[in-house]
Amino acid sequence: MLLDEYHEKSFDDLKERVLELAKRRGFLWPSYEIYGGVAGLWDYGPLGAILKHKVENAWREIYVVGEGVLPIDTPTIGVEEVFLASGHLSNFVDLIVECVNCHTTLRADHVVEEYLRSSGIAADLCEPEIAEACVPSRKKTQELIDSCGITCPDCGGPLGNVHDFNLMFTTHIGPGTQRKGYLRPETAQGIFADFPRLLRFFRDRLPFGVAQIGKSYRNESSPRQGIIRLREFTQAEIEVFVNPSEKSHHPRFDEVTNVEINILSKDFVGRATMKAACDRGIIAHEYLAYHIARCKEFFLRVGVRESQLRFRQHLPDEMAHYAVDCWDAEGLTQHGWTELAGIADRTDYDLKQHERQSGLQMTAFVPYEKPKSVERTIVRPKMDYLGPKYKDKAKQVAEYLTTISDPIGPIIFEGQDIDPLGYTIETTTQSVLGDFVTPHVIEPSFGIDRTVYTILEHAYDEDTIDGERRIVLRLPRGLAPVEVAVFPLVKVLNEKAVEVFRLLRREGFLVEYDDSGTIGRRYRRHDEIGTPFAVTIDHETVENGTVTVRDRDTTKQVRRPIASLTVTLREMCKRGFAASSS
Ligand code: GAP
Repeated sequence: MLLDEYHEKSFDDLKERVLELAKRRGFLWPSYEIYGGVAGLWDYGPLGAILKHKVENAWREIYVVGEGVLPIDTPTIGVEEVFLASGHLSNFVDLIVECVNCHTTLRADHVVEEYLRSSGIAADLCEPEIAEACVPSRKKTQELIDSCGITCPDCGGPLGNVHDFNLMFTTHIGPGTQRKGYLRPETAQGIFADFPRLLRFFRDRLPFGVAQIGKSYRNESSPRQGIIRLREFTQAEIEVFVNPSEKSHHPRFDEVTNVEINILSKDFVGRATMKAACDRGIIAHEYLAYHIARCKEFFLRVGVRESQLRFRQHLPDEMAHYAVDCWDAEGLTQHGWTELAGIADRTDYDLKQHERQSGLQMTAFVPYEKPKSVERTIVRPKMDYLGPKYKDKAKQVAEYLTTISDPIGPIIFEGQDIDPLGYTIETTTQSVLGDFVTPHVIEPSFGIDRTVYTILEHAYDEDTIDGERRIVLRLPRGLAPVEVAVFPLVKVLNEKAVEVFRLLRREGFLVEYDDSGTIGRRYRRHDEIGTPFAVTIDHETVENGTVTVRDRDTTKQVRRPIASLTVTLREMCKRGFAASSS
């Protein structure tokens, strides 16, 4: 059964209920709780860690297996040069403002946004349909605070001046050297810094894609929303390097033409297929559209509800400093529409920046289909003149002259004009095989922690079974941290139940054995953590070698032989209980 088929939930305090369950059942815990905790740092408990791994594996299946994008693993500590080049040291800032009265530091844009929304002004500043997505531009923030008289939301005191707060965590690499290091704010830079080696690895051919899953760090100024805004979080990023002249044609676009998504852009609000979105220029090109479609596939596979997933185009004001077009995949939770992934066209920004910073060439040679004949003006050295004139420097001057094409005006070597009698300028026709091109980068970048939280919220449900209220986590079956629970009905059946438990574990199921409390309580415990199937060993098991298999979602049960139990459960995992039990 699809998640969307269940009733829409209407708990006012859904996020509190989800967090309470997540903490109590070992999905999520505040880090360093025994020392009071730290905002923006969270642990995954045992069940949370398995769930997170399964989410990452679903992502690998789509991108590494399905797309042939290959993973690399680079350090989380980066050197200063990397972030000078990327622009993070100068541009990666939050706008913050301090309350003059209570000295709380606040995200200035959030304070303004909240004020505009609650006072009903926001809709006047932007297009009505996208008012909720509208972020006032940087320069407007101070102006708005002053002109609207916006005060501290905590104590009502006056606000000071808006200033920048850089989100990079700094460190030093090694003792003594004091070489500055930074914790990476995105995994992407490790991939860009490896570009020359990656290009060779992919045998100098575009396009190619590289993936990286790992921790990123941002010293967020107000990390207040559980695991939505963290200071240490997991990103799963892909950088696809593509010839810019080929962005409009993705080789596998035909696989996604009919994929339909919910769109919120400056020009369009509604549902559209990838083909329509490209044809109408809503999405800039096929490469972006293709990855938006794959992104949707991933989110649906891990249990984000389609009705609570939309793709929102960035407004020019909020676009990252490196991007020309960017779409956010947003999931609706009780925290509002939350960015789960960004799909950006980063153009050649990063490679050009690293080329400048490192002095190394960051281009790919793209051969023409057929060599082209090109007329070139070249400089031919005259050694019989240069030799006597420049003596031991003559060879160097001559070599320099041969590197010059299409000269204009005098040719200067080591600050002096080269005597024009020492060379001739000739026009020749040359055969050119191709061009050096700086690839553009299409980047689908996923936040794994936000995805995990959204999955938990979308899966959380409560219903009434036999007059008793139960919490049930309707996770996709393959994602559940415990896949099968095994219960003996009564103590005398423990030995048989352990046998079944061991059999399932040997067969590769994540299985838990539980013999404490009433059978009803055991079912409830496993419903709460999303265990899709419970196998119960009862008296009939001893008589005829069969067990009952109970479905988490419907609580229906069927009786099946132990001899074919693993096949039954695999089938149920794949096709669902109803389809496999008739
Ligand atoms: N390389 C591109 C990049 O880093 P981003 O939109 O800043 O783009 C990508 O981040 C994803 O990482 C976001 O869509 C979000 O899911 C996740 N993310 C970003 N900041 C986060 C934070 N402070 N806490 C948790 N997840 C975060």
